[in-house]
Amino acid sequence: MRVLLTGASGQLGCELRPRLAAAGFALAAPEPEELDLARPGEIDSFWRQNRPQLVINAAAYTAVDRAESEAAAAFAVNAEAPAHLARLCRDTGAALIHVSTDYVFDGTKSAPYHEDDPVNPLGVYGRSKAAGEEAVRALCPRHLVVRTSWLYSAHGVNFVKTVLRLAAERPELRIVDDQHGCPTSAADLAEAIAAIVKRLRQEAQAIFPWGLYHYCGEGATTWYGFARKIVDLLQERGFARGVRVVPIPTAAYPTPARRPAYSVLDCRRIEAVFGLRRTPWAESLTPVVERLLEDRRGAGAGRPGEP
Ligand SMILES: NC(=O)c1ccc[n+]([C@@H]2O[C@H](COP(=O)([O-])OP(=O)(O)OC[C@H]3O[C@@H](n4cnc5c(N)ncnc54)[C@H](OP(=O)(O)O)[C@@H]3O)[C@@H](O)[C@H]2O)c1
Repeated sequence: MRVLLTGASGQLGCELRPRLAAAGFALAAPEPEELDLARPGEIDSFWRQNRPQLVINAAAYTAVDRAESEAAAAFAVNAEAPAHLARLCRDTGAALIHVSTDYVFDGTKSAPYHEDDPVNPLGVYGRSKAAGEEAVRALCPRHLVVRTSWLYSAHGVNFVKTVLRLAAERPELRIVDDQHGCPTSAADLAEAIAAIVKRLRQEAQAIFPWGLYHYCGEGATTWYGFARKIVDLLQERGFARGVRVVPIPTAAYPTPARRPAYSVLDCRRIEAVFGLRRTPWAESLTPVVERLLEDRRGAGAGRPGEP
């Protein structure tokens, strides 16, 4: 099966690429310089040359705050490109796996969000992603839309790396404690998507359970709880000594984009349909923190929080 993986250098893409290659898929994983999704003509000519049978769209404009002032750029990548890919997939009989976000929700619920709950994004990023998933669902019958949340990995820009950096620079981290969600290891999500794709290869597409799914790490926390756990892991390993983590309200940390106060995802559908087992978020965090500490040692950096 010929697979086009977009966003191959992003957090999720970096974890997906080796898993798909190991499973024997004929993988095209272009860099943005080779395939700029904001240019429909580039998508068309790439499509003609490669004729993918499955697209995994892990590319996105993910700068949540910057999107507030760059709406056109966010919509081009998060809404218009998925719509274009969905039309091409529909017209050529290809399948499309598209990744979306918990930020399509407004956070007013206090119980985990089901796939069928209404979306009501609070910011430009969430609106652009909601438009993208809606287009995929409307235009391409053979689609999977997988919403995830609070993604982190040893690659790219994410909260874990930010906390590691700050813990090396500051004695005190003040972290928001009234936004609730589920940290998700990009490796876990990639493992889940790879398992689904392997099943897709074996099963008749006519009976495949296409549709909308949620997948995130098991268990919920706040950004404060997430940071607290990261710093605990550092301190257990002799790093970030004396660093304090202090809970603060969202009101004390204003950002350009509003974020949902609660975006815990109910993942029972993907577990039941695909037989997936999720890992507790704190368990998946440990190897990522250890990998980042190794990378630091490799780069010759000293111990975080030490002179
Ligand atoms: N990060 C999170 O916390 C989070 C939470 C929920 C859902 N999600 C969703 O999960 C998916 C994967 O996110 P991620 O964290 O892996 O994202 P990421 O690390 O920001 O990676 C996104 C990738 O998309 C590429 N890209 C951006 N604009 C492009 C364009 N015009 N043409 C081609 N490629 C382009 C980026 O390339 P450059 O780096 O070169 O720009 C990057 O490789 C996305 O759909 C995202 O919306 C993420």
